Amino acid sequence: MTDQYCVIGNPVEHSKSPWIHARFAQLTGQDLRYEKRLVERDAFARSVQAFRAEGGKGCNVTVPFKFEAASLTARQSDRARLAQACNTLRFDGPDVFADNTDGVGLVSDITRNAGIDPAGRDVLLIGAGGAAAGVLGPLIEARPRRIVVANRTQAKAVLLIERHAALAAKHGVRLEAPALHEVRDGFHVVINATASSMIGAAVPVPPSVLRPGALACDLMYGSAAQGFVEWAQGHGAKARDGLGMLVEQAAEAFLIWRGVRPPSAQVLAELRATLA
Ligand code: ATR
Repeated sequence: MTDQYCVIGNPVEHSKSPWIHARFAQLTGQDLRYEKRLVERDAFARSVQAFRAEGGKGCNVTVPFKFEAASLTARQSDRARLAQACNTLRFDGPDVFADNTDGVGLVSDITRNAGIDPAGRDVLLIGAGGAAAGVLGPLIEARPRRIVVANRTQAKAVLLIERHAALAAKHGVRLEAPALHEVRDGFHVVINATASSMIGAAVPVPPSVLRPGALACDLMYGSAAQGFVEWAQGHGAKARDGLGMLVEQAAEAFLIWRGVRPPSAQVLAELRATLA
């Protein structure tokens, strides 16, 4: 029997995950089907149950259900618990294991695809919402010298770094959450985890945050990342949208489900070509 997976979200119609996982399955010789499921806002738990009852083996969870997925599952990875959000569920018989592969996907994209090792570097994370929370733990585990979390609402950034203080201490990483207007000095890696590009707002930090040769990444892709990508390129940085993170987080989910690492760089190149 072909194993069934899906992505649950609302909206979900533009999800690239079915294409990515179908390609992973082809390239690794895995027998699986992966579909998208549009679920009403109040029906997440019911839909997961229904998918399990149909024999589903696992699912990805996207907007707006990542927090609910975390609150519903007892068995979680450490990184999912810190993020307070899950994007990957694996059904182990009667049990559910929940993980969050977004952050490790971002770090993989930065290290493998962009060729930058964050170890010992200075990293700026702009934003302190769900997207930022999803990536901070794995960013810490990449052992930069310091991570500055800067958010329009400073109190949220302070809470986020407090939650990650023990992990940062373990890895010898300095965590700071200054007011947004105080962030001026240069960083090696700048990550935009705000919705600013999507809503057409200005990038909320000055270009001085981009050291010469800096890498600037948006967690979104396509038109939702365009404003930030153009701003970064216009100030001499190497810019990346979130397409690489999307493929790499999918590769981590595939590994969790199937025990096989798919050739993510190849699939990223193919996906970029189909979108061009
Ligand atoms: P997501 O799950 O995408 O992170 P979210 O949890 O609503 O969505 O978080 C949105 C993030 O974008 C927040 O960090 C938000 O800042 P606030 O916490 O101050 O709301 C940030 N954001 C949204 N619009 C912004 C803007 N115009 N300028 C700066 N930051 C913005």
